[in-house]
Amino acid sequence: MSSSPNIPARSAIGVDIGGTGIKGGIVDLTTGKLIGDRFRIDTPKPATPEAVAEVVAKIVAELNKREDAPESDTPVGVTFPAIIHRGVARSASNVDKTWIGTDVDALFTKQLGRPVLVMNDADAAGLAEVHFGAGKDVDGTVLVITLGTGIGSALIHDGVLVPNLELGHLEIDSAVAESRASASARQREELSWDEYAVRLQRFFSHVEFLFSPTLFIIGGGISKRADDYLPKLSIETPITVAKSKNNAGIVGAALQSAVS
Ligand code: BGC
Repeated sequence: MSSSPNIPARSAIGVDIGGTGIKGGIVDLTTGKLIGDRFRIDTPKPATPEAVAEVVAKIVAELNKREDAPESDTPVGVTFPAIIHRGVARSASNVDKTWIGTDVDALFTKQLGRPVLVMNDADAAGLAEVHFGAGKDVDGTVLVITLGTGIGSALIHDGVLVPNLELGHLEIDSAVAESRASASARQREELSWDEYAVRLQRFFSHVEFLFSPTLFIIGGGISKRADDYLPKLSIETPITVAKSKNNAGIVGAALQSAVS
């Protein structure tokens, strides 16, 4: 069941590392809402581990000054757009290659001087959706698919996350799925919504066949345009858009930091 986890803390800080911006916020863990505004700094260029760690530290320091900040020794949750296995980055499809093999947990923990828990960005978004959004109280397998620069994926079965699914890297019709069906592929190739829907149909029907999910949830900026492509898809599984929109990564990371 996707019932609320046993959360000892009331609030936690979450930070979402993206290709263009790094955003942080204080999350109310009982509602999944942000307490106060989120705080954003542009992603440094080049986005090396050291440069990004400095920005994450600045964001956390800023949030920490606020009246509503949790105790300054509580863990911070951070998302990263790559495979994160036991705190170590194992891929770098859309980020600087120097991340591969970096112990991101250890690097950030040292830089921040407090415990940090790093997780894959789509996994964080998935957790947020299952606990507070469109996947709340949905039994069985929920698949959250984020359409952005790449394709992120999160599988949550009866409330339990199976991390690092990487469905964007499925090979379909001899191509890596995200190279054809991500939001950036649509822009790059200037696809019409009809053309893009054909790509999504191929992806979602294949994933549906492999996993027989109870529900698909679409996340990423393009979920705002769902009316342009969702009605064109024909699959058996119910498919809906994420509720938490921009803050899903921050919320999911904060949540995970508090239950781990
Ligand atoms: C990465 C995933 C990530 C996704 C969305 C993919 O290219 O391999 O780890 O979740 O992009 O950022």
